[in-house]
Amino acid sequence: MRAPPDDAPRFEALFGRPPRVHARAPGRVNLIGEHTDYNGGFVLPMAIPQQTEVVLAPREDRKVRAFSANLGAQGQVDEYELGQERRGRGWLDYVQGVTHVLRGEGHAIGGFDLWLRSDVPVGSGLSSSAALEVALLRGLREAFGLALDDVRLALLGQKVECDFVGAPVGVMDQMASSLAGGGAALFLDTRGLRYERVPLPAGVEPIVINSGVTHSHAGGDYRVRRAECERAAGLLGVAQLRDLSEQELPRALTLPEPLGRRVRHVLTENARVLDTVRALRAEDLAVLGPLLYASHASQRDDYEVSVPEIDLLVDLARAEPDVLGARLTGGGFGGSVVMLARAGKGAAVAARIAARYTERSAHKATVLVPEPQQGL
Ligand code: GLA
Repeated sequence: MRAPPDDAPRFEALFGRPPRVHARAPGRVNLIGEHTDYNGGFVLPMAIPQQTEVVLAPREDRKVRAFSANLGAQGQVDEYELGQERRGRGWLDYVQGVTHVLRGEGHAIGGFDLWLRSDVPVGSGLSSSAALEVALLRGLREAFGLALDDVRLALLGQKVECDFVGAPVGVMDQMASSLAGGGAALFLDTRGLRYERVPLPAGVEPIVINSGVTHSHAGGDYRVRRAECERAAGLLGVAQLRDLSEQELPRALTLPEPLGRRVRHVLTENARVLDTVRALRAEDLAVLGPLLYASHASQRDDYEVSVPEIDLLVDLARAEPDVLGARLTGGGFGGSVVMLARAGKGAAVAARIAARYTERSAHKATVLVPEPQQGL
Protein backbone atom coordinates (compact mmCIF):
# COMPACT_ATOMS: atom_id res chain seq x y z
CA MET A 1 0.00 0.00 0.00
CA ARG A 2 1.45 3.37 -0.93
CA ALA A 3 1.90 6.10 1.69
CA PRO A 4 -0.99 8.57 1.90
CA PRO A 5 -0.08 11.61 -0.20
CA ASP A 6 -0.33 14.96 1.53
CA ASP A 7 -3.12 16.55 -0.45
CA ALA A 8 -4.25 18.95 2.28
CA PRO A 9 -1.98 21.84 1.16
CA ARG A 10 -3.32 21.53 -2.39
CA PHE A 11 -6.90 21.61 -1.16
CA GLU A 12 -6.10 24.64 0.98
CA ALA A 13 -4.37 26.51 -1.87
CA LEU A 14 -7.43 25.93 -4.05
CA PHE A 15 -10.28 26.57 -1.63
CA GLY A 16 -8.63 28.86 0.95
CA ARG A 17 -9.33 26.65 3.98
CA PRO A 18 -8.21 23.29 5.35
CA PRO A 19 -10.05 20.08 4.37
CA ARG A 20 -12.13 18.15 6.91
CA VAL A 21 -12.19 14.64 5.46
CA HIS A 22 -9.82 12.40 3.48
CA ALA A 23 -11.24 9.17 1.99
CA ARG A 24 -10.18 6.66 -0.62
CA ALA A 25 -11.43 3.56 -2.43
CA PRO A 26 -9.71 1.05 -4.72
CA GLY A 27 -10.38 -0.08 -8.26
CA ARG A 28 -11.03 -3.82 -8.68
CA VAL A 29 -9.99 -6.70 -10.85
CA ASN A 30 -12.41 -9.58 -11.30
CA LEU A 31 -10.67 -12.95 -11.01
CA ILE A 32 -13.62 -14.83 -12.50
CA GLY A 33 -17.42 -14.52 -12.80
CA GLU A 34 -18.02 -12.14 -15.72
CA HIS A 35 -21.43 -10.87 -16.79
CA THR A 36 -22.97 -12.99 -14.06
CA ASP A 37 -23.81 -10.18 -11.61
CA TYR A 38 -26.81 -8.76 -13.48
CA ASN A 39 -28.03 -12.34 -13.89
CA GLY A 40 -28.16 -12.89 -10.12
CA GLY A 41 -24.99 -15.04 -10.15
CA PHE A 42 -21.54 -15.34 -8.55
CA VAL A 43 -18.44 -13.12 -8.87
CA LEU A 44 -14.93 -13.17 -7.41
CA PRO A 45 -13.29 -9.72 -7.59
CA MET A 46 -10.24 -8.36 -5.71
CA ALA A 47 -9.17 -4.81 -4.86
CA ILE A 48 -6.17 -3.47 -6.80
CA PRO A 49 -3.57 -1.06 -5.40
CA GLN A 50 -4.71 1.75 -7.73
CA GLN A 51 -7.32 3.93 -6.06
CA THR A 52 -9.27 7.17 -6.02
CA GLU A 53 -8.73 9.69 -3.22
CA VAL A 54 -11.04 12.49 -2.19
CA VAL A 55 -10.33 15.40 0.12
CA LEU A 56 -13.30 17.54 1.08
CA ALA A 57 -14.85 20.06 3.45
CA PRO A 58 -18.57 20.87 3.92
CA ARG A 59 -19.79 24.35 2.96
CA GLU A 60 -22.47 26.52 4.58
CA ASP A 61 -24.47 26.76 1.33
CA ARG A 62 -25.81 24.23 -1.24
CA LYS A 63 -22.95 24.62 -3.69
CA VAL A 64 -20.60 21.79 -4.75
CA ARG A 65 -17.20 22.96 -6.02
CA ALA A 66 -15.08 20.13 -7.40
CA PHE A 67 -11.54 19.92 -8.68
CA SER A 68 -9.92 16.85 -10.19
CA ALA A 69 -6.13 16.67 -10.24
CA ASN A 70 -6.07 14.28 -13.19
CA LEU A 71 -9.51 13.71 -14.75
CA GLY A 72 -10.97 16.01 -17.39
CA ALA A 73 -9.88 19.63 -17.99
CA GLN A 74 -6.78 20.45 -15.98
CA GLY A 75 -6.76 23.25 -13.47
CA GLN A 76 -10.49 23.91 -13.56
CA VAL A 77 -12.90 24.03 -10.61
CA ASP A 78 -16.37 22.87 -11.70
CA GLU A 79 -19.46 23.72 -9.70
CA TYR A 80 -23.19 23.14 -9.37
CA GLU A 81 -26.00 23.61 -6.85
CA LEU A 82 -27.45 20.61 -5.01
CA GLY A 83 -30.74 19.76 -6.68
CA GLN A 84 -29.49 21.14 -10.04
CA GLU A 85 -27.51 18.05 -11.10
CA ARG A 86 -27.44 17.68 -14.91
CA ARG A 87 -25.89 14.78 -16.80
CA GLY A 88 -23.26 15.31 -19.51
CA ARG A 89 -20.30 16.89 -17.68
CA GLY A 90 -17.75 14.03 -17.92
CA TRP A 91 -16.19 12.91 -14.62
CA LEU A 92 -18.36 15.45 -12.76
CA ASP A 93 -21.36 13.23 -13.58
CA TYR A 94 -20.16 10.75 -10.96
CA VAL A 95 -20.01 13.51 -8.33
CA GLN A 96 -23.40 14.88 -9.41
CA GLY A 97 -24.80 11.35 -9.48
CA VAL A 98 -23.68 10.74 -5.88
CA THR A 99 -25.33 13.91 -4.54
CA HIS A 100 -28.45 13.30 -6.64
CA VAL A 101 -28.84 9.72 -5.40
CA LEU A 102 -28.03 10.52 -1.74
CA ARG A 103 -30.60 13.31 -1.62
CA GLY A 104 -33.12 11.18 -3.51
CA GLU A 105 -32.78 8.52 -0.81
CA GLY A 106 -33.40 11.10 1.93
CA HIS A 107 -29.83 11.56 3.19
CA ALA A 108 -29.23 15.11 4.46
CA ILE A 109 -26.14 16.60 2.87
CA GLY A 110 -25.10 20.20 2.29
CA GLY A 111 -22.70 21.71 -0.21
CA PHE A 112 -18.97 20.90 -0.12
CA ASP A 113 -15.60 21.65 -1.67
CA LEU A 114 -13.95 18.60 -3.21
CA TRP A 115 -10.46 17.75 -4.46
CA LEU A 116 -9.94 14.39 -6.04
CA ARG A 117 -7.34 12.30 -7.76
CA SER A 118 -7.39 8.80 -9.22
CA ASP A 119 -4.73 6.43 -10.48
CA VAL A 120 -7.25 3.80 -11.65
CA PRO A 121 -7.02 4.07 -15.44
CA VAL A 122 -10.33 5.10 -17.03
CA GLY A 123 -11.86 2.61 -19.51
CA SER A 124 -9.48 -0.18 -18.43
CA GLY A 125 -12.11 -2.58 -17.08
CA LEU A 126 -10.86 -1.93 -13.52
CA SER A 127 -13.80 0.13 -12.24
CA SER A 128 -12.46 3.65 -12.09
CA SER A 129 -16.03 4.87 -11.79
CA ALA A 130 -16.89 2.60 -8.83
CA ALA A 131 -13.70 3.74 -7.09
CA LEU A 132 -14.76 7.36 -7.52
CA GLU A 133 -18.32 6.71 -6.32
CA VAL A 134 -17.25 4.69 -3.28
CA ALA A 135 -14.46 7.13 -2.30
CA LEU A 136 -16.84 10.09 -2.50
CA LEU A 137 -19.64 8.26 -0.68
CA ARG A 138 -17.16 7.36 2.09
CA GLY A 139 -16.04 10.99 2.30
CA LEU A 140 -19.61 12.31 2.45
CA ARG A 141 -20.62 9.62 4.97
CA GLU A 142 -17.94 10.91 7.29
CA ALA A 143 -18.43 14.62 6.59
CA PHE A 144 -22.22 14.58 7.09
CA GLY A 145 -22.53 11.66 9.55
CA LEU A 146 -24.66 9.55 7.16
CA ALA A 147 -26.02 6.24 8.50
CA LEU A 148 -24.74 3.97 5.71
CA ASP A 149 -23.08 0.58 6.06
CA ASP A 150 -20.61 -0.62 3.42
CA VAL A 151 -23.17 -2.72 1.52
CA ARG A 152 -25.71 0.09 1.41
CA LEU A 153 -22.95 2.40 0.24
CA ALA A 154 -22.12 0.03 -2.63
CA LEU A 155 -25.79 -0.16 -3.64
CA LEU A 156 -25.96 3.64 -3.77
CA GLY A 157 -22.89 3.64 -6.04
CA GLN A 158 -24.61 1.20 -8.38
CA LYS A 159 -27.69 3.42 -8.39
CA VAL A 160 -25.51 6.37 -9.45
CA GLU A 161 -24.46 4.37 -12.54
CA CYS A 162 -27.89 3.03 -13.42
CA ASP A 163 -30.10 6.02 -12.58
CA PHE A 164 -27.84 9.01 -13.23
CA VAL A 165 -24.89 8.11 -15.48
CA GLY A 166 -27.04 5.75 -17.58
CA ALA A 167 -24.85 2.60 -17.46
CA PRO A 168 -27.06 -0.40 -16.57
CA VAL A 169 -24.37 -2.22 -14.55
CA GLY A 170 -24.59 -4.94 -11.93
CA VAL A 171 -23.43 -4.60 -8.33
CA MET A 172 -20.01 -6.28 -8.50
CA ASP A 173 -17.76 -3.24 -8.93
CA GLN A 174 -19.16 -1.12 -6.12
CA MET A 175 -19.30 -4.13 -3.77
CA ALA A 176 -15.67 -4.91 -4.56
CA SER A 177 -14.53 -1.31 -4.10
CA SER A 178 -16.47 -1.01 -0.83
CA LEU A 179 -15.73 -4.44 0.70
CA ALA A 180 -12.68 -6.09 -0.88
CA GLY A 181 -9.08 -5.66 0.29
CA GLY A 182 -6.23 -7.24 2.18
CA GLY A 183 -5.11 -9.42 -0.73
CA ALA A 184 -8.21 -11.64 -0.52
CA ALA A 185 -10.81 -12.16 -3.23
CA LEU A 186 -14.43 -11.29 -2.43
CA PHE A 187 -16.69 -14.25 -3.23
CA LEU A 188 -20.06 -12.59 -3.72
CA ASP A 189 -23.46 -14.08 -4.40
CA THR A 190 -25.08 -11.12 -6.12
CA ARG A 191 -28.51 -12.46 -5.22
CA GLY A 192 -28.90 -11.58 -1.55
CA LEU A 193 -25.40 -10.03 -1.42
CA ARG A 194 -23.92 -12.74 0.80
CA TYR A 195 -20.13 -12.51 0.64
CA GLU A 196 -17.00 -14.20 1.98
CA ARG A 197 -13.34 -13.26 1.72
CA VAL A 198 -11.21 -15.97 0.09
CA PRO A 199 -7.42 -15.52 0.39
CA LEU A 200 -5.18 -16.41 -2.56
CA PRO A 201 -2.93 -19.42 -1.84
CA ALA A 202 0.67 -18.49 -0.95
CA GLY A 203 1.90 -20.08 -4.20
CA VAL A 204 0.14 -17.67 -6.58
CA GLU A 205 0.06 -13.97 -7.33
CA PRO A 206 -2.22 -11.95 -9.60
CA ILE A 207 -1.09 -10.04 -12.70
CA VAL A 208 -3.18 -7.31 -14.30
CA ILE A 209 -2.23 -5.88 -17.69
CA ASN A 210 -4.18 -3.09 -19.37
CA SER A 211 -4.45 -3.58 -23.15
CA GLY A 212 -4.78 0.15 -23.83
CA VAL A 213 -8.05 -0.48 -25.72
CA THR A 214 -10.69 1.53 -23.82
CA HIS A 215 -14.40 0.84 -23.43
CA SER A 216 -17.51 2.49 -21.99
CA HIS A 217 -20.52 0.69 -20.52
CA ALA A 218 -22.96 3.53 -20.99
CA GLY A 219 -22.59 2.67 -24.70
CA GLY A 220 -24.29 -0.05 -26.71
CA ASP A 221 -22.62 -3.44 -26.36
CA TYR A 222 -22.87 -3.98 -22.62
CA ARG A 223 -26.51 -2.92 -22.71
CA VAL A 224 -27.19 -5.34 -25.60
CA ARG A 225 -25.68 -8.28 -23.69
CA ARG A 226 -27.77 -7.48 -20.66
CA ALA A 227 -30.94 -7.22 -22.76
CA GLU A 228 -30.13 -10.57 -24.44
CA CYS A 229 -29.90 -12.25 -21.03
CA GLU A 230 -33.19 -10.75 -19.93
CA ARG A 231 -34.86 -11.88 -23.15
CA ALA A 232 -33.46 -15.40 -22.78
CA ALA A 233 -34.64 -15.59 -19.16
CA GLY A 234 -38.11 -14.45 -20.24
CA LEU A 235 -38.30 -17.05 -23.04
CA LEU A 236 -37.15 -19.78 -20.64
CA GLY A 237 -39.73 -18.71 -18.06
CA VAL A 238 -37.35 -17.72 -15.23
CA ALA A 239 -36.85 -14.39 -13.48
CA GLN A 240 -33.05 -14.44 -13.94
CA LEU A 241 -30.57 -16.84 -15.61
CA ARG A 242 -29.37 -17.72 -12.09
CA ASP A 243 -32.60 -19.68 -11.74
CA LEU A 244 -31.58 -22.19 -14.45
CA SER A 245 -29.66 -25.37 -13.66
CA GLU A 246 -27.03 -26.78 -16.03
CA GLN A 247 -29.47 -29.60 -16.86
CA GLU A 248 -31.61 -26.96 -18.58
CA LEU A 249 -28.84 -25.96 -20.97
CA PRO A 250 -30.04 -28.18 -23.88
CA ARG A 251 -33.39 -26.35 -23.76
CA ALA A 252 -31.60 -22.98 -23.71
CA LEU A 253 -29.59 -23.98 -26.76
CA THR A 254 -32.82 -24.26 -28.77
CA LEU A 255 -33.38 -20.49 -28.36
CA PRO A 256 -32.74 -18.26 -31.40
CA GLU A 257 -29.10 -17.29 -31.97
CA PRO A 258 -27.20 -15.90 -30.10
CA LEU A 259 -29.32 -16.33 -26.95
CA GLY A 260 -28.40 -19.98 -26.33
CA ARG A 261 -24.70 -19.17 -26.31
CA ARG A 262 -25.25 -16.22 -23.98
CA VAL A 263 -27.04 -18.53 -21.54
CA ARG A 264 -24.30 -21.15 -21.86
CA HIS A 265 -21.69 -18.55 -20.90
CA VAL A 266 -23.62 -17.44 -17.82
CA LEU A 267 -24.39 -20.96 -16.58
CA THR A 268 -20.88 -22.31 -17.10
CA GLU A 269 -19.29 -19.12 -15.70
CA ASN A 270 -21.30 -19.40 -12.48
CA ALA A 271 -20.07 -23.00 -12.14
CA ARG A 272 -16.48 -21.87 -12.79
CA VAL A 273 -16.69 -19.31 -9.97
CA LEU A 274 -17.76 -22.03 -7.53
CA ASP A 275 -14.98 -24.33 -8.80
CA THR A 276 -12.42 -21.52 -8.48
CA VAL A 277 -13.42 -20.80 -4.89
CA ARG A 278 -13.07 -24.52 -4.06
CA ALA A 279 -9.65 -24.65 -5.78
CA LEU A 280 -8.43 -21.53 -3.93
CA ARG A 281 -9.51 -22.99 -0.60
CA ALA A 282 -7.89 -26.35 -1.37
CA GLU A 283 -4.77 -24.57 -2.76
CA ASP A 284 -5.24 -26.73 -5.86
CA LEU A 285 -3.15 -24.69 -8.31
CA ALA A 286 -3.46 -27.23 -11.13
CA VAL A 287 -7.21 -26.58 -11.35
CA LEU A 288 -7.07 -22.76 -11.27
CA GLY A 289 -5.38 -22.08 -14.61
CA PRO A 290 -7.72 -24.14 -16.83
CA LEU A 291 -10.71 -22.45 -15.18
CA LEU A 292 -9.39 -19.00 -16.13
CA TYR A 293 -8.65 -20.06 -19.72
CA ALA A 294 -12.07 -21.69 -20.03
CA SER A 295 -13.69 -18.48 -18.79
CA HIS A 296 -11.79 -16.53 -21.42
CA ALA A 297 -12.85 -18.87 -24.23
CA SER A 298 -16.46 -18.63 -23.08
CA GLN A 299 -16.32 -14.81 -23.07
CA ARG A 300 -14.67 -14.80 -26.50
CA ASP A 301 -16.85 -17.39 -28.26
CA ASP A 302 -20.19 -17.55 -26.45
CA TYR A 303 -20.54 -14.09 -24.93
CA GLU A 304 -18.53 -12.27 -27.62
CA VAL A 305 -17.11 -9.54 -25.39
CA SER A 306 -13.42 -9.95 -26.22
CA VAL A 307 -11.37 -8.10 -28.85
CA PRO A 308 -8.25 -9.27 -30.75
CA GLU A 309 -5.86 -7.29 -28.51
CA ILE A 310 -7.21 -9.00 -25.39
CA ASP A 311 -6.99 -12.42 -27.08
CA LEU A 312 -3.37 -11.61 -27.95
CA LEU A 313 -2.54 -10.91 -24.29
CA VAL A 314 -4.16 -14.21 -23.26
CA ASP A 315 -2.19 -16.07 -25.95
CA LEU A 316 1.07 -14.46 -24.82
CA ALA A 317 0.26 -15.56 -21.26
CA ARG A 318 -0.29 -19.13 -22.45
CA ALA A 319 3.29 -19.24 -23.76
CA GLU A 320 4.65 -18.50 -20.24
CA PRO A 321 5.18 -21.59 -18.06
CA ASP A 322 4.90 -19.50 -14.87
CA VAL A 323 1.41 -18.27 -15.77
CA LEU A 324 -1.28 -20.66 -14.52
CA GLY A 325 -4.15 -19.05 -16.41
CA ALA A 326 -5.40 -15.79 -17.95
CA ARG A 327 -8.66 -14.18 -18.99
CA LEU A 328 -10.37 -10.95 -19.99
CA THR A 329 -11.53 -9.14 -16.82
CA GLY A 330 -14.40 -6.64 -16.46
CA GLY A 331 -17.10 -5.70 -18.90
CA GLY A 332 -15.01 -6.32 -22.01
CA PHE A 333 -14.78 -4.77 -25.50
CA GLY A 334 -11.24 -3.77 -24.49
CA GLY A 335 -9.83 -3.20 -21.02
CA SER A 336 -7.53 -5.53 -19.10
CA VAL A 337 -6.46 -9.13 -18.66
CA VAL A 338 -6.07 -10.85 -15.28
CA MET A 339 -3.63 -13.73 -14.85
CA LEU A 340 -2.58 -15.94 -11.99
CA ALA A 341 1.16 -16.60 -11.90
CA ARG A 342 3.48 -18.58 -9.65
CA ALA A 343 4.33 -16.40 -6.64
CA GLY A 344 7.48 -14.37 -7.11
CA LYS A 345 7.37 -14.63 -10.91
CA GLY A 346 4.66 -12.04 -11.62
CA ALA A 347 6.77 -8.93 -12.22
CA ALA A 348 9.17 -10.54 -14.71
CA VAL A 349 6.48 -12.45 -16.59
CA ALA A 350 4.17 -9.42 -16.81
CA ALA A 351 6.95 -7.17 -18.11
CA ARG A 352 7.79 -9.75 -20.80
CA ILE A 353 4.17 -10.18 -21.90
CA ALA A 354 3.59 -6.41 -22.00
CA ALA A 355 6.72 -5.86 -24.11
CA ARG A 356 5.74 -8.58 -26.62
CA TYR A 357 2.20 -7.21 -26.85
CA THR A 358 3.41 -3.68 -27.49
CA GLU A 359 5.65 -4.99 -30.30
CA ARG A 360 2.81 -6.90 -31.93
CA SER A 361 -0.17 -4.56 -31.53
CA ALA A 362 -1.00 -0.92 -32.24
CA HIS A 363 -1.52 -0.34 -28.51
CA LYS A 364 0.77 -0.09 -25.52
CA ALA A 365 0.27 -2.53 -22.65
CA THR A 366 0.61 -1.29 -19.07
CA VAL A 367 1.34 -3.59 -16.14
CA LEU A 368 -0.81 -2.51 -13.19
CA VAL A 369 -0.33 -5.54 -10.92
CA PRO A 370 2.19 -6.23 -9.54
CA GLU A 371 2.76 -2.50 -9.19
CA PRO A 372 6.00 -1.58 -10.96
CA GLN A 373 8.70 -0.57 -8.46
CA GLN A 374 9.22 3.19 -8.09
CA GLY A 375 12.11 4.45 -10.20
CA LEU A 376 12.07 1.56 -12.68
C1 GLA B 1 -18.87 -4.12 -15.62
C2 GLA B 1 -20.08 -3.88 -14.73
C3 GLA B 1 -20.24 -5.02 -13.72
C4 GLA B 1 -20.21 -6.38 -14.41
C5 GLA B 1 -19.01 -6.49 -15.34
C6 GLA B 1 -19.03 -7.75 -16.15
O1 GLA B 1 -17.70 -4.04 -14.86
O2 GLA B 1 -19.94 -2.66 -14.03
O3 GLA B 1 -21.44 -4.84 -13.00
O4 GLA B 1 -21.40 -6.62 -15.08
O5 GLA B 1 -18.96 -5.38 -16.24
O6 GLA B 1 -18.82 -8.84 -15.34
